[in-house]
Amino acid sequence: MMRTGGILKLAALVSVFFLAAFLAFELLEINLDFHFARMFARSAPVEEAATKQSRYKCGLSKPCPEGHFSFKMASGAASVVGPKICLDDHILMSGVKNNVGRGLNIALVNGRTGLLMKTEFFDLWAGDVNPLIQFLNKIEDGTIVMMATFDDSATKLNDVAKQLISDLGSSNISSLGFRDNWIFVGGKGIKTKSPFEQHIKNNAESNKYEGWPEVLEMEGCIPRRQD
Ligand SMILES: *[C@@H]1O[C@H](CO)[C@@H](O)[C@H](O)[C@H]1NC(C)=O
Repeated sequence: MMRTGGILKLAALVSVFFLAAFLAFELLEINLDFHFARMFARSAPVEEAATKQSRYKCGLSKPCPEGHFSFKMASGAASVVGPKICLDDHILMSGVKNNVGRGLNIALVNGRTGLLMKTEFFDLWAGDVNPLIQFLNKIEDGTIVMMATFDDSATKLNDVAKQLISDLGSSNISSLGFRDNWIFVGGKGIKTKSPFEQHIKNNAESNKYEGWPEVLEMEGCIPRRQD
């Protein structure tokens, strides 16, 4: 009797473990793909020639023309997996790098060299918008500005901050709402609207996760600044 009880308990424990592992993998799916791809690229130099055709910078589906930076980025997944920003094969921000957080995640890149200048995240749910405004005001002309939301980035956002982000070339920032997902690449001193922007509204009816919309992903080629 005792023995059966023990076995049942063990079986229950094992199933709970597998269920938890399954859920974790579901949520971390993007991250895993990403790291497996990198590990593979590192650990299998022999196969490099064979995989080279499909292995462009940041895992893009096609290479960027001369004089462009390759980028790939993703918003956060619900409040669980942080956003991810890759530029020219360098991960600028990610959960694994431990430099992302709830709110608006921003990477500043030198528009001529493609070198990372700074990363920062601003909690716009429990935090204050003023540090973000100061940060945006200090960005120098010619800087590439990459932004990705994680969980909520809208609650504390005000018109001043929205205008500064709009000036970087954003069309969607003015309508960013609670827990919307949004990813964007803009530039300080840009004269047009950026073509690199995606926005999905948080909508209880169409959300992928109960309280959050699906993850956004975007890739492309940013022209290098020449002057
Ligand atoms: C974001 O902006 C683009 C360009 O103006 C527009 O077509 C799109 O509908 C906007 N997306 C959302 C979710 O508002």
